[in-house]
Amino acid sequence: MGVIGCGYWGPNLIRNFRSLPSCNLAAICDPREERLQHICSLYHDLAAFTNCEKLLEMPGLTAVAIATPVRHHFPLAKAALLAGKHTFIEKPMAASSAECEELIEIAKRQGLILMVGHTFLYSAPVRRIVEIVRAGDLGEICYINSRRLNLGLFQKDINVAWDLAPHDISIILHVLGAFPTAVNCTGNAHVTPNVEDTTNMSLSFGKRRFATIQSSWLEPRKIREMTIVGTKRMIVYDDLQNHEKIRVYDVRVERPPHYDTFAEFHYSYHYGDSYIPHIKQEEPLKLVCEHFIECIQTGSEPITSGIAGLELVRILEAASASLAAGGAPISFSAKNPVSSFQAIPAKSAA
Ligand SMILES: NC(=O)c1ccc[n+]([C@@H]2O[C@H](COP(=O)([O-])OP(=O)(O)OC[C@H]3O[C@@H](n4cnc5c(N)ncnc54)[C@H](O)[C@@H]3O)[C@@H](O)[C@H]2O)c1
Repeated sequence: MGVIGCGYWGPNLIRNFRSLPSCNLAAICDPREERLQHICSLYHDLAAFTNCEKLLEMPGLTAVAIATPVRHHFPLAKAALLAGKHTFIEKPMAASSAECEELIEIAKRQGLILMVGHTFLYSAPVRRIVEIVRAGDLGEICYINSRRLNLGLFQKDINVAWDLAPHDISIILHVLGAFPTAVNCTGNAHVTPNVEDTTNMSLSFGKRRFATIQSSWLEPRKIREMTIVGTKRMIVYDDLQNHEKIRVYDVRVERPPHYDTFAEFHYSYHYGDSYIPHIKQEEPLKLVCEHFIECIQTGSEPITSGIAGLELVRILEAASASLAAGGAPISFSAKNPVSSFQAIPAKSAA
């Protein structure tokens, strides 16, 4: 296996793939010599390349993971797939849905595994939330609100929605098990011209459900918070908490079933107990890496397959189109792909 891109995120993939007994991480690639030297000082037996073609020619290489800036995802993944390598690509899968479609097509033709790094779907809190929602404990979901805010890290080629919102979008689609009917997005570029550093995105789903996603690189505090409001219960998920990441609130509001006079009309506010489900601490990226290797070994379709990557990029593209149109809603046609929205299997979760 080889890892392409050894900047901020690549070393996490290298560490996790190295930790798996079923994987021999043998090679790395980055045009920056100093990054290669740094990684090789940590792991002495790695072959290091400044050029991806050389890495792909390495005898015995079966698979690659790509963790480069988004604009390089497509050319690198295409080269890897055409060279017969199973390919893992970090989020977002590519810079356009056309690029995603082409990669899905090549992987299918070549009989290769194509997986995207929607890491949060493998995290224990998100898996627990999905379990609670699918068990019906929340009732009907009314809305989801997500905030992912911090100061930096400013990107040059993508705006903050393409950088941060993939996490929120992947979680929201997975929790609701649905693709939105429309997207609208507003935002502003305060620091780098034409690269929005603050965006507010709204995804509309059927049945009067919606989700809002606020993303920012211009916030004094780091915030990673999602609220899921159901008709019976509500969840607050704060990913920055160490031990109490999810809190389930047994609260709701009910209208009286019938009333004759205004004096008889009272909303009924239910305040029950709140509880904090126990969540095992584990690194989601390890499960991501394990799942990729398992899919290669068994030939099964990854849960976060190319289709899931394509869906997410379609939403980001629609958000960009909405931004360009001053926040106008962009509707999706019925021909959009719908992934199976499977829950992460218990085996991978163990
Ligand atoms: N799943 C997650 O939680 C998560 C978190 C952070 C970043 N990411 C994703 O990981 C990817 C990389 O992000 P980052 O923050 O590490 O970026 P980065 O800029 O810190 O690192 C990217 C590295 O890729 C290298 N690179 C550029 N072109 C290359 C090429 N053609 N071949 C090989 N290497 C090349 C650069 O030299 C750099 O070292 C992005 O897609 C990002 O969205 C995912």
